[in-house]
Amino acid sequence: MKYNTILSDFSDGITTITINRPTKLNALNSTTIFELHTAFKSADIDTDTKVIIITGSGEKAFVAGADISEFANYDSEEGAALSKEGQDLLFDFVENLSTPVIAAVNGFALGGGLELAMSAHFRLASTNARMGLPEVSLGLIPGYGGTQRLAQLIGKGRAMELTMTASMIDATTALAYGLVNHVVPQEELLSKCYALADKIKSNSCLAISAAIKAINANYKDGVNGYDVEISEFGNCFDTEDFEEGTTAFLEKRKSKFPGK
Ligand code: COA
Repeated sequence: MKYNTILSDFSDGITTITINRPTKLNALNSTTIFELHTAFKSADIDTDTKVIIITGSGEKAFVAGADISEFANYDSEEGAALSKEGQDLLFDFVENLSTPVIAAVNGFALGGGLELAMSAHFRLASTNARMGLPEVSLGLIPGYGGTQRLAQLIGKGRAMELTMTASMIDATTALAYGLVNHVVPQEELLSKCYALADKIKSNSCLAISAAIKAINANYKDGVNGYDVEISEFGNCFDTEDFEEGTTAFLEKRKSKFPGK
């Protein structure tokens, strides 16, 4: 499929989605959000895609936020609709995909950019990355899940401080906070993501989907994560992947998971 604001490339079991508006520091407008939804959906449906990597084009930004020029004249109703539609199409959607999503944060990840990175299942950053939720400096609050996910990832006190001050943290601080898992020089960022993706790819994709569901269950209102774990654990026993994984272990060979 041809996109106007993003690129999507498939190679060796990995789909890399790149937000491609470098002159606007990859700011998310409604077209980009819709195209990202389509690209993530296609990659998730594609059984050859085992891992999805999301990054930004250029050397300066992952995503510098939602496109401010698009919502500058909105009223409260339009603002709420923008937030709801974005969460449904992209941020909640990505978090709940059954295919693992890694964010390669290659520069500024601000506002909606950090919110997108936080929707991914985990994050890597380049040494030049800067992260923050500057919305209160615009008279807003984060509207794409940032008030929830930042506190989940770095704790309430740090999330309160970062949000209230509208300041940016550097990659080293993000690593210390647990917001990103690894920090590498920019030229090594994608290769480090691909190396991790290769490790993920060698495991059962069905078991990985079940693990995503169970881990995410901890953060859903009214859902008991332990119950979800019991149910997902049980389901694994009916899969060919389980049969292959256990047989391969007992036969002292490497598993070749059928993904069924
Ligand atoms: N929405 C729309 N356009 C944006 C944008 C955003 N969130 N972030 C950057 N851009 C655009 C700028 O308007 C500029 O466009 P122009 O060249 O047509 O004027 C271009 O991207 C480059 O940005 P610029 O501000 O000139 O780069 P910089 O290096 O001086 O500053 C930032 C970089 C990230 C500090 C700065 O762009 C910024 O503060 N952006 C907004 C961050 C934000 O508040 N995000 C939350 C939105 S809810």
